[in-house]
Amino acid sequence: MVEKEDNTMDKIISLCKRRGFVFQGSEIYGGLAGVYDFGPRGVELLNNLKRAWWNANVYQKENYYGLDAGMFKHPKTWEASGHTTGFSDPLAECRKCNTRIRVDKVLNAIGVTADEKIDEKKLNEIFDAHRDKIKCEKCGAKDFTAVRKFNLLVKTNLGDFTSKGEDPVYLPGEACQGIYLDYKNIVDSMRPKIPFGVAQIGKAFRNEISPRNFLFRVREFEQADTQFFIKPHENKKAYEDIKQDRWNWYVSLGIRPENLKWHQHENLVFYAADAWDIEYNFPSIGFDELEGIHDRTDYDLTQHMKFSGIDLNYMDQDTSEKYIPWILETSVGMGRMFMAFLSDAYKEDELGGEKRVYLALKPTLAPVKVAVFPLLKNKPQLVEKAREVYKNLKKEFGAVEFDDNGNIGKRYRRQDEIGTPFCVTVDFDTVEKDQTVTIRDRDTGKQERVSEKELAAYLKEKIS
Ligand code: GAP
Repeated sequence: MVEKEDNTMDKIISLCKRRGFVFQGSEIYGGLAGVYDFGPRGVELLNNLKRAWWNANVYQKENYYGLDAGMFKHPKTWEASGHTTGFSDPLAECRKCNTRIRVDKVLNAIGVTADEKIDEKKLNEIFDAHRDKIKCEKCGAKDFTAVRKFNLLVKTNLGDFTSKGEDPVYLPGEACQGIYLDYKNIVDSMRPKIPFGVAQIGKAFRNEISPRNFLFRVREFEQADTQFFIKPHENKKAYEDIKQDRWNWYVSLGIRPENLKWHQHENLVFYAADAWDIEYNFPSIGFDELEGIHDRTDYDLTQHMKFSGIDLNYMDQDTSEKYIPWILETSVGMGRMFMAFLSDAYKEDELGGEKRVYLALKPTLAPVKVAVFPLLKNKPQLVEKAREVYKNLKKEFGAVEFDDNGNIGKRYRRQDEIGTPFCVTVDFDTVEKDQTVTIRDRDTGKQERVSEKELAAYLKEKIS
C-alpha cells in the first residue's frame, strides 16, 4: 500500500469532528492514540450499519444465530487460539528518539512487499536491505534497532488481587473467539443442523504499534463476524458463496464496485487455510483491507477441544456421523466499514451556483432521516407549527432534527454535510393556506409540496 496524494481524508476527518460523527478519544487530555469516540451523528450511522449487517446476516438467513459473548474470556482461550504466541506484528525502534515503527507497513510505504506474517529472520533480512531508505518520521534518523515480533494482546488484571501480573486475563484480540467458546451451548440449546452460522458484533483490542489513518488502524474497535460451521471438506463452494454474498452486500448498500477489489493472502495467518480480503479504495490510503474472509478449517474447535478437554464434536442426527465442523469466517472492523461508507458517500458539487459538500448515503443509513425548519425563526406561528411537525415525525422516524439557526440555505448546507436525505420546511402556505410543507431532496435540491397529513407516509416510503 503506497499512500495516495489527496486531501479527501483530511476533509472527511474535519467533517467528522465538525458535525459530531467522530472525536479523538480523551481529547481534552491531549488524546489517546488509537482510540476514537463516535459522536451523536456517528453513533447513528454506526448503528444503522450494524442494523443493516445484522439484518443481512441473521434475519435474512434461515440458519444463522445471533450472539453477544462477554469480552473477558478464560486465559486459556488465547493459548488455545494461538494468540499468546503467534499474534504479533514486527516492530523496530528508532535508536535516537525511541519512536516505534511497524516494519511491514513502513516497507510497504516505500514499495517493498512485506506483511506481518513473514517470520522474524526473513523480515530482518528485508529490513536490512532497505534500511538506507527508511527515516524516522519523528527525528529523521536512519538508525533503527533489529526487527522483533511484538505481541498485540492487551493484558488486564481482572480478578487478580496480587498485583503480580501473573495469569493475566486478556482483552479479546479478535471478537470471534466468543463464538467458538459458545459453539457447544448454541448446538445444545438451538439444535442447529449443519451447515449453520453464528453472527456477532463484538469488541476487539490490539496493542497496535503505530495506530494511524483515522479509524483504519486503531487499538480498540468492533468486529462484525460470521462463523459458518460446515461439514469437513465441504468448504470450496460455501467459501465462494460467502465471498460473493459479502461483496454484494456492500454494493447493495451503495458502495461503488469500482472502489472494491479482491486480494488473496500469500502468507497465511496461523489459523487460516485460505484468506481473501475485500479491499476498499480508501481516500489517501488507496486499496486496503476492509473485510477478511477466512477458511479456518477445524483449527479453532480442535484447539479449544484440546485445551478445555470438552468434546466439541458435532453429532449429525441424520447420518449419525461425528466430526469437528470446519469454519468459514467473515470479519469486518466496524470502523473501517464506517470509513468506507462515509468515503463513498462524500461528494462535492455545485447547487444553485453555490459549492457544497454532501453525503450521498442511502436514506436507511443516513444518521438523520429528516430535518424540519420553520421558514423564519421570528414568526411564532411558523415555529410552533414546525415544532409540531418535528414532534410527529420524531415519533415515526426517531432520528429527526429541528433547526431554526441561520437562513434556509445555511440549514440545507448543514444537513447536506450530515447526509440528511430530506428537509421539510414549514412556511406561510402551511399555516395560512393549504396545510402543505415543502420537502427538499438532498441529492437534487429539488423541492415539492406535500400535504402535512400525508407527510409521514410519503417520507416512510422514500426512506425505506
Ligand atoms: N477473526 C479474524 C480477524 O480478526 P483480522 O484480519 O485480524 O481477522 C478482521 O481482522 C477485520 O478487523 C479486518 O478486516 C479489519 O476490518 C478489522 N481490523 C483488524 N485490525 C484492526 C485495527 N487495528 N483497527 C481497525 N480495524 C481492524
